[in-house]
Amino acid sequence: MTAPELAEALQFALDAAEAVRGTTSPNPPVGAAILDVDGRIAGVGATAPPGGPHAEVRALAAAGERARGGTAVVTLEPCNHTGRTGPCAHALIEAGIATVHYAIADPNPVAEGGAATLRAAGIAVHEGLGADAVAHGTLRAWLHRQRTGRPHVTWKYAAGLDGRSAAADGTSQWISGPDARTRVHDERSRLDAIVVGTGTVLADDPWLTARLPDGELAPHQPLRVVVGLSDIPTDARVLDDSAPTLVLRTHDIDEVLEALTDHPDVLVEGGPRLAGAFLAAGRVDRVQAYIAPVVLGAGSAAVQDAGVATIAEALRFRRERIETVGADVLMTLVPERD
Ligand SMILES: NC(=O)c1ccc[n+]([C@@H]2O[C@H](COP(=O)([O-])OP(=O)(O)OC[C@H]3O[C@@H](n4cnc5c(N)ncnc54)[C@H](OP(=O)(O)O)[C@@H]3O)[C@@H](O)[C@H]2O)c1
Repeated sequence: MTAPELAEALQFALDAAEAVRGTTSPNPPVGAAILDVDGRIAGVGATAPPGGPHAEVRALAAAGERARGGTAVVTLEPCNHTGRTGPCAHALIEAGIATVHYAIADPNPVAEGGAATLRAAGIAVHEGLGADAVAHGTLRAWLHRQRTGRPHVTWKYAAGLDGRSAAADGTSQWISGPDARTRVHDERSRLDAIVVGTGTVLADDPWLTARLPDGELAPHQPLRVVVGLSDIPTDARVLDDSAPTLVLRTHDIDEVLEALTDHPDVLVEGGPRLAGAFLAAGRVDRVQAYIAPVVLGAGSAAVQDAGVATIAEALRFRRERIETVGADVLMTLVPERD
């Protein structure tokens, strides 16, 4: 295959994986593309919801006989074990695939070994195509959970130029502009869980659902999680039937994460106290800060009580990406320790 043909196949596989992100847990969101012997895209597939076929099986089904002698481009090493579905490595062998490119080796001891099985069957196997894009993109949260045993936590907030995330009277809707809000709803629809403290529920009564631009509910909704000891009203919007909700009566951040083990991609959208608690516990793996061109002048800062007593203890972050979203600036940051 030529480099442009492989690059095109990789893009199809990445897009397919992104389209199912949030719907596959506990399985990883994987994408696969099959090129026929002439280097043309013959089939594309992505992981089905749990119990359904894996990406390779779906891509092979789409390719049919055109897979014979062709090349498979997959975002994760094809699995080698029989779980609820058969091993993908065997499906690739049976379909007569000649070459397999995968981005990242499977760190899961139960599933690994797919590459060796493929090589033993005489298939040319290459690791690393698109590894960076996959590790920072679709498989980021799943890989983090495999590595640490904990969900991947993104803390997202909106603040004004003065670092405040609410006005003096506690109102915070809306600090960021409409483009940022559309982006947040799109991201919510690809998440496993979204976490706030009781303070945010009591102050804002948010739905915490993912909505499409026309206001309809997105097909996939993350689990809504409310953390804290206070009662919340039984008619709180977060308790409606538009998405499942978990209420956790604790202040222990690790207990929260333990309860979300099967939800690897978690967004903390809470107010300053819950954000401070996640930061103090060292459980923020990524920050998404929407900074809006507005001054609130008074009101609470975006974070309270992050456990920093002196400048030497300041929590420092490294830039991953900075972009403009409408009138706002979105900073995506990761802890300097990583
Ligand atoms: N701009 C933004 O991005 C944004 C986002 C969300 C909220 N807000 C604003 O934030 C304000 C609410 O702030 P908030 O700090 O009260 O909201 P919060 O952080 O969502 O909730 C605080 C509550 O979380 C619970 N909690 C759970 N674990 C905790 C821990 N380890 N440490 C401390 N508390 C823990 C406590 O509830 P119990 O007391 O019940 O135990 C605490 O009172 C509102 O004005 C809202 O509009 C802004």
